[in-house]
Amino acid sequence: MIPENFLWGGAISAHQCEGAYDEDGKKPATADTMLGGDLRTHWASFGNPIDEKLYYPTHRAIDFYHRYKEDITLFKEMGFNALRLSIAWSRIFPNGGLDEEEPNEKGLQFYDDLFDELLRNGIEPVVTITHYETPLALYEKYGGWTCREMISLFEKYCKVIFTRYKNKVKTWINFNEINSMMFVGCLGPAIKISRRDPDFAEVTYQAAHYMMVAGAIATKLCHEIVPGSKMGAMLGGHKIYAYSCDPKDQLLAMFENEKQYYFMDTMLNGEYPYYAKRIWKDNGLHLDITDEDLKLLKENPCDYLSFSYYQSMTVSTDDKKEQTAGNMSSAASNPYLKASEWGWQMDPTGLRIFMNELYSRYHKPLLIAENGLGAKDVLENGTVNDDYRINYLRDHVKAFKEAMDDGVELLGYLPWGCIDLISCSTGQISKRYGFIYVDLDDEGNGTLDRYKKRSFEWYKKVIASNGEDLD
Ligand code: BG6
Repeated sequence: MIPENFLWGGAISAHQCEGAYDEDGKKPATADTMLGGDLRTHWASFGNPIDEKLYYPTHRAIDFYHRYKEDITLFKEMGFNALRLSIAWSRIFPNGGLDEEEPNEKGLQFYDDLFDELLRNGIEPVVTITHYETPLALYEKYGGWTCREMISLFEKYCKVIFTRYKNKVKTWINFNEINSMMFVGCLGPAIKISRRDPDFAEVTYQAAHYMMVAGAIATKLCHEIVPGSKMGAMLGGHKIYAYSCDPKDQLLAMFENEKQYYFMDTMLNGEYPYYAKRIWKDNGLHLDITDEDLKLLKENPCDYLSFSYYQSMTVSTDDKKEQTAGNMSSAASNPYLKASEWGWQMDPTGLRIFMNELYSRYHKPLLIAENGLGAKDVLENGTVNDDYRINYLRDHVKAFKEAMDDGVELLGYLPWGCIDLISCSTGQISKRYGFIYVDLDDEGNGTLDRYKKRSFEWYKKVIASNGEDLD
């Protein structure tokens, strides 16, 4: 049974929606340096100087900055009672707080207005403090989270937003998908480093430590400043299978699991897991970790675990196995599963298993902060017949309901990209997730008009029936 206070809604992020990348005092974030076009161009451009002659998908994105009222009206029509969104750090501190005593009032006002509009419409904002968009100034000065200095700058930013929005936002998430740095350094911690670089482990595990300490400080401040607040950690989640019952494959699956649980174990249990020392030793790491850091982690664990789930991942020690894609990872193709147009293997049963694993490991409430199907949609007669998306979502709703029947405590379901937005791994909009179609193409052409897809009516029914009517 789904409880009455369950959060039904959707999820978006600032850089993938807002646009207005240099308006009202905002300065660029790392995400604003990423070009559209093919995958390689998108990633290779990370952190490079912006060339105004080229098309950068986040610069206008879907123009949520100017159109959020229209979009919130549509969310309300679907029955949303929650929306996950993020604050762009460089709207609040355009240089990340480096040389700024005071925050940018216009940036703060934007989110005040946005949260007010949501609340007026009965929609609770669930806010990610930073979603893959470190202020560019911090990347340029420190190379992102490679430096301890980032912790106090993050603290300064958190103090401002908690104080300003303490009566409007109660449910927070510190970092989007913190474990994604194990696949690609640049997104979360804003480190430009290849996975093949011999220093990759040293740099990413160090950044992970600084981020988790900053996260602990954020939890502390949030509890002190925002009455009745909850702080969540967020996992970019996969159910991980071993390809075979060969113990070597099973061991590899255990190691891959440790890579994702490393972060959640630390942030939810308040201390590094027992296997951390082995990871550090195997990788020859010498991390800057102080007793004060460990105390902060111990005293300030997160209150709940939010996670994204799109697909499962199957790992094999045989590297000749056919591979399948993910947005940041690739793995062995699982012969029992079908893949999306982007090669992501869809696995609703995996969601049920994964939720059980998470809940038995942490005994803290879960929140599905992202889930969905990226697909090429065709707009015909003012709508999109996206039965494929409805089927995907229906199967996942059934799966989380089963997990709830298993006894898992789930706070809500916030499918990703509830309105079409810019893809974070490819910079495309042709990879669409939304219930609402946005007229925009991968080169930036289009009216930006919004259209309801068939899934819009379907989700509306699902919410109205509190998850009972899934037809
Ligand atoms: C998650 C991210 O990993 O996946 C989102 O938190 C992202 O920002 C989403 O958009 C879907 O991935 P993609 O690559 O299709 O945008």
